[in-house]
Amino acid sequence: MTTPHPDETVFTYAAPALKFGRGAAAEVGYDVRGWGARRALLVTDPGVLAAGHAETVAASLRSHGVEVVTYAGARVEPTDASLEEAVAFARGEGTFDAVVAVGGGSAIDTAKAVALLVTNPGGLMDYVNAPIGRARAPQQPVLPLAAVPTTTGTGAESTTICVMDVLALKVKTGISHPALRPRLAVVDPALSATQPAGVIAAAGMDILCHALESYTARWYGEFPAKEPQQRVPYCGSNPIADLWSEKAMGMLSGAFRAAVRAAREGDDGGEAAEQMALAATFAGLGFGNAGVHIPHANAYPIAGRVRDFRPADYPQDEAMVPHGMAVALTAPEAFRFTFDAAPERHLRAAQLLSPGVEGADASVLPGVIASLMRDIGIPNGLAEVGYGAGDVDALVEGALQQQRLLATAPKDVTGEDLATIMTASLEHW
Ligand SMILES: NC(=O)c1ccc[n+]([C@@H]2O[C@H](COP(=O)([O-])OP(=O)(O)OC[C@H]3O[C@@H](n4cnc5c(N)ncnc54)[C@H](O)[C@@H]3O)[C@@H](O)[C@H]2O)c1
Repeated sequence: MTTPHPDETVFTYAAPALKFGRGAAAEVGYDVRGWGARRALLVTDPGVLAAGHAETVAASLRSHGVEVVTYAGARVEPTDASLEEAVAFARGEGTFDAVVAVGGGSAIDTAKAVALLVTNPGGLMDYVNAPIGRARAPQQPVLPLAAVPTTTGTGAESTTICVMDVLALKVKTGISHPALRPRLAVVDPALSATQPAGVIAAAGMDILCHALESYTARWYGEFPAKEPQQRVPYCGSNPIADLWSEKAMGMLSGAFRAAVRAAREGDDGGEAAEQMALAATFAGLGFGNAGVHIPHANAYPIAGRVRDFRPADYPQDEAMVPHGMAVALTAPEAFRFTFDAAPERHLRAAQLLSPGVEGADASVLPGVIASLMRDIGIPNGLAEVGYGAGDVDALVEGALQQQRLLATAPKDVTGEDLATIMTASLEHW
């Protein structure tokens, strides 16, 4: 996998401007005013609003002379309908010079859809990835977005995608375009310090899988050569994305269990919480360029077809499998499957996550991941979130729709392979 194929010879790397550290959220007004903005739409969700973080950022904007209109209706795990509602709100509120997102991936993705659609004609489905949507590119500049994450997980503050559930099709998909990348990412560990333990656990598994999947993604040189206009932001594993992924895994090994434990005990997590924020940022900068593969492809139908699972620490009004949990549920078996495509990378990842772990076969990395999942309270497989052997075919069918992700896996993946992974993921321990 590490030998470049003669075909593609170029990889790309892009990232937003970044501000990191305690107190950074109170500087957002300075930066947004510096763009020349006088009126901003702040997008958040009810949980983040209640934690007081939206007000911290709104106060900073106002103190720099930026008028703020707040939309606090971002849905946790956005849908096409919830994004359209946010866009309709924004279109009804006059013109804005900037959008500011305060929240986890849900609020940030909602803000991305708004930033795109307040300056561009048409509806959401015009821009959603084909074949579900029409995959149009924006014709007008997208409003500049400052993204202030309050979870330690998605890396959405660095990426070019906006993820949503398309309700009628029971499928998750997204809009993917370089213009969606935030202009500024402001990561303030004081904000993520108030996450409940269940959110740290699920969102943290998203960090872990971003790092692992981008580290084991098909090497950029093994893709067919592209013309510059054909290049997409995700180009496969490459020397620069590798650095971010490796570093993120090292941070998670020390901080992940400690951060969840601290939240369970009502502590703010101190150094561990700060390391989780840094790890999320690092992994986002890696996967935002390399891409992710099988666990993320599987996560889409796992989240999309949920029946009645209601996880602790998330809003209880609707059934959901939170994104990071959905990604984690097939990760051990996915990495057992990909092991032979790049044994040295899987073993190196296992050592970074669990220094000194013994063994050199395909079961080492799955063992490290499952042990972490057990310790931080992630369900013991698909059965615990309500799926049985009879659901495997439908889950496989949903995952097969994510061809862009599956093509990033380090080896070819068939429906039969996915069925084996799903079946073995019904119960992990
Ligand atoms: N765009 C991308 O690159 C990308 C990448 C991965 C995932 N996603 C998407 O992001 C979404 C998941 O985002 P997430 O995992 O960050 O969680 P989230 O935004 O869905 O938030 C989860 C819950 O935690 C609460 N919360 C968030 N921060 C808090 C804080 N500091 N204190 C107290 N409560 C807090 C929220 O109110 C919510 O109830 C999914 O829709 C997923 O598909 C997007």
